[in-house]
Amino acid sequence: MCGIIGYIGLRQAQPILLNCLGRLEYRGYDSCGIAVSEHGINVCKDAIRVEALKKTMPRLDGTAGIGHTRWATHGEPSPINAHPHLDCSGKIAVVHNGIITNYQNLRDQLSGEGHQFVSETDTEVIPHLIEKYYNGNLETAVAAALNDIEGSYAIIVLATDEPKLVAARKDSPIIISLGDRENFIASDVPAILDYSNRVVYLEDGDIGVITTDSIKVSRRGNEVAVKVHQISWTVEDAQKAGYEHFMLKEIHEQPKVIRDTLAGWVSGEALEDLATMWGDDINALLILACGTSYHAALIGKQIGQELLKIPVRAELASEFNYSTQPLARTLAIAITQSGETADTLKAMKKLKEVGCQALAITNVVGSTASRIADRTLYTRAGPEISVAATKSFTAQLMVLYQLMMSHPEIGARRLNSMTKELRQLPNKVQQVLDNEGEIAQYARELSQYENIFYIGRGINFPVALEGALKLKEISYIHGEGYAAGELKHGPFALLGSDTPVIALLAQDDTYEPMLTNIKEVKARGSPIIALTREGDEDIEKIVDKVLTVPQVEAIFSPVVNTIALQLLAYYAAREKGCPIDFPRNLAKSVTVE
Ligand code: G6P
Repeated sequence: MCGIIGYIGLRQAQPILLNCLGRLEYRGYDSCGIAVSEHGINVCKDAIRVEALKKTMPRLDGTAGIGHTRWATHGEPSPINAHPHLDCSGKIAVVHNGIITNYQNLRDQLSGEGHQFVSETDTEVIPHLIEKYYNGNLETAVAAALNDIEGSYAIIVLATDEPKLVAARKDSPIIISLGDRENFIASDVPAILDYSNRVVYLEDGDIGVITTDSIKVSRRGNEVAVKVHQISWTVEDAQKAGYEHFMLKEIHEQPKVIRDTLAGWVSGEALEDLATMWGDDINALLILACGTSYHAALIGKQIGQELLKIPVRAELASEFNYSTQPLARTLAIAITQSGETADTLKAMKKLKEVGCQALAITNVVGSTASRIADRTLYTRAGPEISVAATKSFTAQLMVLYQLMMSHPEIGARRLNSMTKELRQLPNKVQQVLDNEGEIAQYARELSQYENIFYIGRGINFPVALEGALKLKEISYIHGEGYAAGELKHGPFALLGSDTPVIALLAQDDTYEPMLTNIKEVKARGSPIIALTREGDEDIEKIVDKVLTVPQVEAIFSPVVNTIALQLLAYYAAREKGCPIDFPRNLAKSVTVE
């Protein structure tokens, strides 16, 4: 999970590469570098962020080049391990996203043939292999090198002797983008939005070649016609629009994201289309995902269990991949914002192998998940740059509500009442955002603690997990999400005045047992904040503080509750001065297992 970029055209490559790399930093940001070709290849790289590289690097002339922003897998972040990597002659440079699993064998073999390696990375074998096979045709040499390689890769290759860039992919994303007398190769669409909105998606096994005036894609040795897609995301979508952080902007975009993702439902078009997902033979649902998307999956399970009469499971894709399960007559749903998470893709491939119908819910048009799936439902969240997922989660919930509500067995009354609530959600969410000042005040107080518990029951248990995840990933405070009824089986030992507990309430049959759990916590001396609906007077008498959200039907409470918790995590992290959009050790798109 690194970001890669390539440029060839009439303009100086250096500023363009650096600008695009800045837009790719959400994919990794422990080091970065670029290589530019003009009468030889000049490389500049370091274990610093792109902004710092911009300030410190010399001018490199040339109108073709490649760049990389890294999330280390093999070898610590260091100038030597940063990409691009070169061959022995210094005439071939490579940037790579993915993992070469047989790199040690290749390295030993190439070393025996006289190649000298300088880094600890798996990537460095690639330029050396290309050098070994180079015989005046870069594309042929790349194809030969890839024959020797096992693992996953998206690569871009630059060579001094040929005015072109060569790209290839296997299990890692890559696009070609078309400009006017210039062309680009990138990991992802946000990288190139400043320059173009026309892209071509490469398939696994494809080799792409771009020059200033041409693009060519070959599949199994034969040239194929390219399909150019027009991207609807704008460059403004991928910028901060005056907000201090992408995360805050993305939190505030949620009323619009809900409206956009529900547009088809509200207009009545989506119901018919979604209803076709439910073939007669489907008698179970399995939802798979990782990270925040997994929490959406858990909420999807709760929605499904309430609305449908078939069993619904939710599993971590990374665990599912190493389990055996009955999958007959199961509709499998993979949720992934990026559409590129390695564990989720592996799960999807496993499902396809056993003949399961796979439905993808993703935010990225043309992503690998959308290409593996039998059908895809898109979340309309727009580009999400902050590593911590916010608006994509809410959009995933919107798709899950619509999907479950489209089941033929949902009665018209239930459908109508839920649709009415859905329509009101953007306004309810706006009210949560309008209460930002109070939430920020609570967050500042909470930022003084080292451990915070989030507790919930039923549909709000996954919300507790998500609130805790948001807190730990951006503020580095240990947040722990727990099923409220389980505290007494161990975590009570950790409670006390130095461990606040945030209790999430919904107006359903979990409300009373939650009150009991809250009283138990209080008896152990922990400060308690309740997150509940406006006008919940019972709770005010028991807890230390109350944070209110607008009243919604319990099934929709995860939406308003999660957004309040996103703001809470954001302001706690801000108070601590954390690098909110790019937390340490993390990356947004995790393309390794
Ligand atoms: C990374 C990101 C998380 C995200 C998870 C799953 O860990 O930092 O924010 O939830 O990957 O990503 P996906 O793209 O599959 O939803």
